Amino acid sequence: MAKPFSQACANNQEIICGILERVFADKKSVLEIGSGTGQHGVWFARKLPHLSWQMSDREQNHAGIKWWMNDYPAPNLLPPIPLDVLNDHWPTAHYDAIYSANTAHIMPWEAVAAMISGIGERLVSGGVFCLYGPMKYLGVLDAKTNIAFNYRLQQQFAHQGIREFHDINGLATEAGLVLREDNPMPANNRLIVWQKI
Ligand SMILES: C[S@@+](CC[C@H](N)C(=O)[O-])C[C@H]1O[C@@H](n2cnc3c(N)ncnc32)[C@H](O)[C@@H]1O
Repeated sequence: MAKPFSQACANNQEIICGILERVFADKKSVLEIGSGTGQHGVWFARKLPHLSWQMSDREQNHAGIKWWMNDYPAPNLLPPIPLDVLNDHWPTAHYDAIYSANTAHIMPWEAVAAMISGIGERLVSGGVFCLYGPMKYLGVLDAKTNIAFNYRLQQQFAHQGIREFHDINGLATEAGLVLREDNPMPANNRLIVWQKI
């Protein structure tokens, strides 16, 4: 197995971190859902040492995440825990912050619903959820790159696709989360912040 590498993470970690620094300034423990390669976890744990950063993903990604973690250890970076949002084995711990990047358009819609509902249950009151990735607004994908990306996703797997912001926000509302920020990001991505009431 080769060490996994995501060019997108290398490109976006600095700018995402700029927002997390502010939004997670008074937070202590973060659960990351869908850590992927683990690059975001190792980067954010080093840049935000006041946070305990708990990576998670489906088990097939753990070897790669651990590889990154071993190369860039940090005292506040916790080894990945298995988490498939569609099964019942969510951590029993509660968090004051949850972060997930580029997951909503990859998971089937039922998993997006399970993820947001699970987040509502695991966030403490006042806790925040940050979701990074491309988004559709009122059915419109306004960037040509996102239209092409969405087409590629749907050709690859019919259950994938860039999600409608209002649908995700509706799930968040049902889960007791209030929209706080919708930040435009480079490469036609968004970083959306909700807070548990
Ligand atoms: C495109 S990758 C994004 C990885 C990383 N967050 C990033 O930004 O590069 C999508 C991630 O979603 C995770 N994922 C997909 N379905 C999932 C599910 N049902 N439960 C938890 N994670 C899931 C995948 O394992 C993968 O790590």
